[in-house]
Amino acid sequence: MWTKENIPDLTGKTAIITGANTGIGYEMAKALYEAGADVTLAARDKQKAIKALQKIKTETIGKGSIEIGILNLANLNQVKAFSDTFKNKHQQLNILINNAGVMMPPPSKTDDGFELQFGVNFLGHFALTGRFFPLLKNAADARVITLSSGAATLTDGIDFSNLKLEKPYDPLKQYAVSKLADTIFAYELNKRLKTASLDIISVVAHPGVTRTDLQRHIPNEELEFQLAQIGAIMQPWQGALPALFAATDPSVNGGEFYGPDGEKEYTGYPALSKHNTPAMHDAALATHLWEYAEEATQVKFQL
Ligand SMILES: NC(=O)c1ccc[n+]([C@@H]2O[C@H](COP(=O)([O-])OP(=O)(O)OC[C@H]3O[C@@H](n4cnc5c(N)ncnc54)[C@H](OP(=O)(O)O)[C@@H]3O)[C@@H](O)[C@H]2O)c1
Repeated sequence: MWTKENIPDLTGKTAIITGANTGIGYEMAKALYEAGADVTLAARDKQKAIKALQKIKTETIGKGSIEIGILNLANLNQVKAFSDTFKNKHQQLNILINNAGVMMPPPSKTDDGFELQFGVNFLGHFALTGRFFPLLKNAADARVITLSSGAATLTDGIDFSNLKLEKPYDPLKQYAVSKLADTIFAYELNKRLKTASLDIISVVAHPGVTRTDLQRHIPNEELEFQLAQIGAIMQPWQGALPALFAATDPSVNGGEFYGPDGEKEYTGYPALSKHNTPAMHDAALATHLWEYAEEATQVKFQL
């Protein structure tokens, strides 16, 4: 079984993990720092970021370096500000992990007017990845890892006329849409990278069922009931493994999808995911989504 002890030496590699103050992002930042990478722990709240950094430093001694970056994905100007700040200090980016996420919040919008889950989970990361493109190109064999979810299989498409809360709000459906968008984005990005013959790969990963703050918007009783139905649940260190594998293992290829290897991919150790729906591979949908995101974020990838 693959664990973080199998991560190869990452000395000299730079890595950004979004939403790394808690949950699986925290575990990923810690593991990459231990393996020698120069890690930026990105978080929207400065105090939480500082606390997480201090916690990592008390829990482990990394071979690399670790610093914080302030990134609010619900505001596209702040996405730009974060990437500008990083670019002033770094010439290359080897590993970008699009991890931050929000699940089933009350109906709400990003500062730019998009439904919060679609805006944060997908659009913010689309803009971030596009803005970092020059730095990814500067790195030898860079990787972009985007976090999906089993929930991506719960919708068969994206209603483009309901991405700004135009229709009655269904929190789970919108979460599913955001995670389908993440999955389509990761695959489409990899296709475009291949076509452009760039030395960058895009890979998608999901953490199975992991106890984190992600479930904060689900009432406690309901959450406990749902978790009892599922049966098994992982701790963040284990939920982090599929994305860590995708980000670092030499055997990984662009366009692959990793998740836990257990029943229904709820728990386990990294393996190729079987989550697969027609919508994830719908070329027309991917083109539509890409064009929508370019227009919404005003970010174009310099492929
Ligand atoms: N846990 C699971 O079972 C599960 C299953 C499938 C997929 N996933 C995916 O795994 C990823 C990580 O989730 P997790 O379980 O580790 O959840 P988590 O513990 O709630 O962590 C999510 C992170 O995203 C950050 N975030 C939320 N809104 C943000 C914003 N507007 N700008 C920047 N950062 C923001 C959070 O910051 P704050 O702490 O400040 O809120 C937190 O650092 C997500 O993409 C999620 O969809 C998780």
